[in-house]
Amino acid sequence: MENLRVLILAAGKGTRMKSRKAKVLHKVGGATLLEHVLRAAQPVSSQVLVVVGHQADKVKALLPRVTFVEQTQQQGTGHAVMSAREALAGFPGDLLVLPGDVPLISHSTLQNFLRFHREGGFTASVLTADIAEPFGYGRIVRRSVMEGHAEIEAAEIEAAEIEAIVEHRDASPEVLNISEINSSIYVFQTPALFEALSDVRNVNSQSEYYLTDVIGILARRNLKVGAYKAPNPVEILGINTRQELAAMDHFLRQQKCEALMAEGVTIIDPESTFIDVDVQIGSDTVIYPSVQIEGQSVIGDEVTIRSFSRITNCRIGMRSTVLEGCVLADSEMGEDVSVGPFAHLRMHTVLEDTVHVGNFVEIKKSRLGRGTKSGHLAYVGDATVGKKVNISAGVITANYDGTKKNETHIGDDAFIGTNSTLIAPVRVESGAFVAAGSTITHDVPAEGLAIARERQIVKEGRAPHRKGGKS
Ligand code: UD1
Ligand code: CA
Repeated sequence: MENLRVLILAAGKGTRMKSRKAKVLHKVGGATLLEHVLRAAQPVSSQVLVVVGHQADKVKALLPRVTFVEQTQQQGTGHAVMSAREALAGFPGDLLVLPGDVPLISHSTLQNFLRFHREGGFTASVLTADIAEPFGYGRIVRRSVMEGHAEIEAAEIEAAEIEAIVEHRDASPEVLNISEINSSIYVFQTPALFEALSDVRNVNSQSEYYLTDVIGILARRNLKVGAYKAPNPVEILGINTRQELAAMDHFLRQQKCEALMAEGVTIIDPESTFIDVDVQIGSDTVIYPSVQIEGQSVIGDEVTIRSFSRITNCRIGMRSTVLEGCVLADSEMGEDVSVGPFAHLRMHTVLEDTVHVGNFVEIKKSRLGRGTKSGHLAYVGDATVGKKVNISAGVITANYDGTKKNETHIGDDAFIGTNSTLIAPVRVESGAFVAAGSTITHDVPAEGLAIARERQIVKEGRAPHRKGGKS
């Protein structure tokens, strides 16, 4: 939108969280509170300012494409806005102010709110909601009925102007009965905001400079202050405690499961299925109970994911199967791949189409070519493995020499026998055969057979002596 900037308040500690971590860095649905807010705000304006203070460095590291202002001492929401005064000096347009702890706010509600503000010609507007349990929130004290604006819905016109916002802690019993609450989301004409802010005092139960007082100050100056009720009150819920964090997380996860089911994903037990908000899943994929799918994972169509698997930032191709108890991170599986039960893929592992990785196999930072199999009990790390290779039970790539990681190369159609150790750096070329129990320290040429183990000795008739202790 033209002539509009966004200011997000994220400097507070979040005392009620009882945490070392700044409140806005706590996560719901797999993303921090602040990231959720930023996601709704960024399409509104390309100029986003974030007020940081508590754990400023961590907050800064998290957010791309925004400008930061520092609030070194956290003396309240009004004080937080004040710290952006210089950054906004001379800016004549509207400022959308958002707290960093309202993760459900949607882009469309913000757009409608801004439209309300501009069409109503308000100096300041507040996004409000009627909620059943207003405990803790600032209450909206309404004034008179305003005149109609054709573009605004009838219900919104009814009583759009407000007189003041009173904080819960400072409210009379009468005001506490009001169920309309302040979301802490506002739009201000920027010059009027800073003018009013300089009149805000910290005479209240918290000795803080409240941003909410600006509303009363503007109203007393007979400037138009509007209140826009969010159509969906859940969107403006703020997070102040761990209980609220858990409730919000649960809500987001259920919403995610429902959205996926609506798109044709089978989720057998949505209650126990944890899928982060950004995850994409194709249709006819079936997810069994107690699965976690996190981060930016993208799962194709007709995939099966069995119970107790955790998948983080992975891509999984069509018709692939993840059996029980797998941990898959930052990796990629092609089509018709099967992994598990109890497999572990990590650090940019790539399994091409039709690869099979079975139980108790760990694959780290390796690529396995089409049709390759590693069915049981193996460790493959820092390796490039060709097509149709057989990696038998107990094979280990010894990739770490105590100082650095070394690479293993295995060519197409090679066969690595049971319980072999490939001491990297080493190459086993295509079509080669490594006999079971070998310790491979030298390259094996194409089509070569490598046997690297002690020869077996058989002593005829000696077994009874061992068993019976005869000499
Ligand atoms: C605030 C509002 C309250 C509203 C509620 C909605 C005030 C005085 N009260 O209360 O009317 O109903 O939000 O959720 O504004 N922050 C700073 N610097 C500070 C203090 C806070 O950056 O010095 C940031 C916090 O990081 C947070 C946001 O401002 O993201 C809101 O602060 P918080 O303490 O959660 O305000 P509430 O008590 O919830
Ligand atoms: Ca809050």
